[in-house]
Amino acid sequence: MVKIGILGLGTVGTGTVQILLDPVGRHHLLQSVEIRRVGVRSIDKPRAVDLPSELVTTDLDAIVCDPEIEIVVEVMGGIEPARSLILKAIEHGKHIVTANKALIAKFGDEIFTAANQAGVYVMLEAAVGGGIPVIQPLKQSLGVNRIGRVTGIINGTTNYILTRMTVEGGEFADILADAQKLGYAEADPTADIDGLDAGDKIAILASLAFGGRIKRDDVYCEGIRKIGAVDIAYADKLNFVIKLLAIAERVEGGAVSVRVHPTFVPRDRPLATVNGVYNAILVEGDPLGEVMLFGPGAGAGATASAVVSDILAIVGVRQCHISREEAIESPHNALHPLLSCNHTEYSQMAPLSSLRSSFYVRFLCLDVPGVIGKLGTSFGEHHVSIESIVQTGFQGDRAEIVVVTHDVSEADFDSALAEIGSLEAIDSIPSIIRVL
Ligand code: HSE
Repeated sequence: MVKIGILGLGTVGTGTVQILLDPVGRHHLLQSVEIRRVGVRSIDKPRAVDLPSELVTTDLDAIVCDPEIEIVVEVMGGIEPARSLILKAIEHGKHIVTANKALIAKFGDEIFTAANQAGVYVMLEAAVGGGIPVIQPLKQSLGVNRIGRVTGIINGTTNYILTRMTVEGGEFADILADAQKLGYAEADPTADIDGLDAGDKIAILASLAFGGRIKRDDVYCEGIRKIGAVDIAYADKLNFVIKLLAIAERVEGGAVSVRVHPTFVPRDRPLATVNGVYNAILVEGDPLGEVMLFGPGAGAGATASAVVSDILAIVGVRQCHISREEAIESPHNALHPLLSCNHTEYSQMAPLSSLRSSFYVRFLCLDVPGVIGKLGTSFGEHHVSIESIVQTGFQGDRAEIVVVTHDVSEADFDSALAEIGSLEAIDSIPSIIRVL
């Protein structure tokens, strides 16, 4: 078992504990992770997760010094005491998993230097893009590319406000106030709307993309306070949408530019379609071209998914100090568990006939009375409910009828079509396409 200590039991901490306490059906390595201690500010606060009381403590220092604990998960946020606790944990030889973008953006130099000296990992998948895997892809799968630019919509609050301004035509201050009422914006929204949160995140992405540390003060940050309904309307007229983009790019001469500012984005670009609280990161690399990563940029479950993915990565690496000869001879073939195939059984497959789908079907038929009635009767007798049916015109002397069904059983749909296909009035069924 790998024992972990968690600092913080707020939204992300709770989501993390929930995943770890319910490992079945997830990566098998999670079953070898044990929560040894969870550090909180107040013991008596009601919690959404059922933890044995002896695991919960207010003594955060004891967690980072605990000789049994191998991984410290910092999900408390803020600069202090998170920074001091992480440094102390590193000093005690613990690997770190953190979701703390502000801390890493500002003190990454100090923390990674200490970690390298101590021979431990600091993992931060949850710091950028919530549940979207972006740190690990930049480090690994995309790492073979020369990255030219990373462009992100990496602040959900501002994207939510700008999306509503675009859809409703409202003013910034009114929509911000409403977003605060609905819980989509913080009571103090400064870090989000002034682009500082996105600035922290793009500093981290830039560092990974370009292989050099980034001083947070060198990141230009301009927020969305000054965007008016009239700017949104002009953008629309000119075929653009306004997005708060975080951009990291290599410019001529090899230097790097890292910045956050509202931007007119052509409506046909992929980033223009990212709406509401969603995040997306577009990576442009050579020779790959463009890859866009899209998903939920915040929230308990999504962010916890990223936190636990880092725990999993460390557990996997930790198990893998083994030579090829040892791996071959070990009873369960102990290759790296995150790189090797861990499955031996075939998956149980659901037959197509057991699924439910909605269908578009196009019929060519004789233009005689009662055909639509016969189609309706056959579908109905086979429990296929019709959403719409239209006679759209003619192909030669054949009438063309288009049917869209509700979600129906594939087996029922097949038997209905077999019967309909044999009707005298039906000439052919040229198209059957599933509807999402
Ligand atoms: N405050 C952030 C946002 C979520 O609005 O996207 C946490 O990183």
